[in-house]
Amino acid sequence: MSTPEQVTIEIEGNQYEFPVVTGSEDEKAIDISKLRSSTGYVTLDPAFVNTASCTSDITFLDGEKGILHYRGYPIEELAAKASFIETSYLLIYGELPTSDQLTTFTDKITASSSIPEQLKSLFDTYPASAHPMANLSSMICTLSAFYPEASATDLSAEQIDASIAQLISQVTTLTAYSYKKSLGQTLVDPDQKLDYCANFLKMMFGLAGENFEIDQDIVEALNLLLILHADHEQNCSTSAVRLVGSSRTNLFAAISSGALALWGPLHGGANQAVLEMLETINEAGGDYNQFLAKAKDPDDSFRLMGFGHRVYKNFDPRAKIIKVACDKILAKLGVENPLLAIAKGLEEAALQDEYFVSRKLYPNVDFYSGIIYHALGIPTDMFTVMFAVGRMPGWIAQWKEMLDQGSKIGRPRQIYTGAVPRSYESIELR
Ligand code: CMC
Repeated sequence: MSTPEQVTIEIEGNQYEFPVVTGSEDEKAIDISKLRSSTGYVTLDPAFVNTASCTSDITFLDGEKGILHYRGYPIEELAAKASFIETSYLLIYGELPTSDQLTTFTDKITASSSIPEQLKSLFDTYPASAHPMANLSSMICTLSAFYPEASATDLSAEQIDASIAQLISQVTTLTAYSYKKSLGQTLVDPDQKLDYCANFLKMMFGLAGENFEIDQDIVEALNLLLILHADHEQNCSTSAVRLVGSSRTNLFAAISSGALALWGPLHGGANQAVLEMLETINEAGGDYNQFLAKAKDPDDSFRLMGFGHRVYKNFDPRAKIIKVACDKILAKLGVENPLLAIAKGLEEAALQDEYFVSRKLYPNVDFYSGIIYHALGIPTDMFTVMFAVGRMPGWIAQWKEMLDQGSKIGRPRQIYTGAVPRSYESIELR
């Protein structure tokens, strides 16, 4: 059956027509933007399960078929062939860069890698035990204090490009400095001779004044992880970026709100929660069946972390790629990790379990990513920070598109269910 151009909704005996919008991959939506003005009704859709908040040219995701494309390119191809910086350019500017464009973009990012000197002293004010996501999100917002020009109401394309390069670059410097401070070590300054991933690893794991040996396998693994996390259309953190950005606050403020949304364990915080869960299972003797039982118990709030997804109902293509990479990198590094065996056993058991099968719960991107981060030497509480570094170009691309679309300020409605008007009566004071 062909898609109708409009649909009719009948309310209180009156018929109203609403246009149907069809996406380039044949996704269908009813455009209800005139619903309230024509009928007086609004829609109620908690957690936006059925609501497209925007149209977007950036990322396509088919949850039933397990498809993920950035600007039309399959994630499998980009993961196999592209660099993270190329992917970032693609997401933000819409096309893969030419050789000259890539050089200019890379040079801008490299040249922007040093954070303002005063910002360094701010790290001393955070307790060493602070969660790195607390540091990162506030530091990203603090960049707006050092780059006030990003808050101009009439931003030029050059200014936007400068802020974009600063963010993509400095998020790695901020991350590495926060890590070094937590260890009480001297900061390692950015090395502008190195590429993005190698420089990031050197700032994290190098020692000031000492030579840092670059392991190309680790650089490649990091490049892959960052690409896989680079965008995922209108998820919780990206929606936060677009909503906060719609008030025309500056890029740094909008992106820090995305980082804060990402921190939660139902979203990007799941990678940390997965590794902690696997460690708990390991410490309890490795029997994952009791954890499966807990996850299935409706009276137990425990969930199998790294399982399930709002959109993917078949498999998460990122998880497939990560699982293969996980085997490869652990073998290359010669790391024997008992958590990998537990993860594989748990996955196999869950995929045969009626509870998980009937609810279409599959491993998501976070299920195996923690095991790779762990092998790369990243501490568990920094896993979500790594996700944020990877998601940076996606958040930026979505923010930029939102501005280019001239989006109105985001402002959902509600259905009020509280008390109806009543009179105030003074209490009698004793
Ligand atoms: N373990 C056990 N049961 C689950 C799980 C899970 N991980 N996920 C969903 N369910 C059950 C849930 O209890 C519900 O059962 P019932 O129908 O009997 O009430 C059913 O499956 C549907 O779940 P839902 O909460 O309505 O699904 P949602 O779309 O609102 O939530 C989710 C999606 C990702 C928040 C959820 O699956 C979850 O909490 N997963 C664990 C956390 C996690 O791994 N998050 C990372 C997501 S991927 C990375 C990212 O992009 O952020």
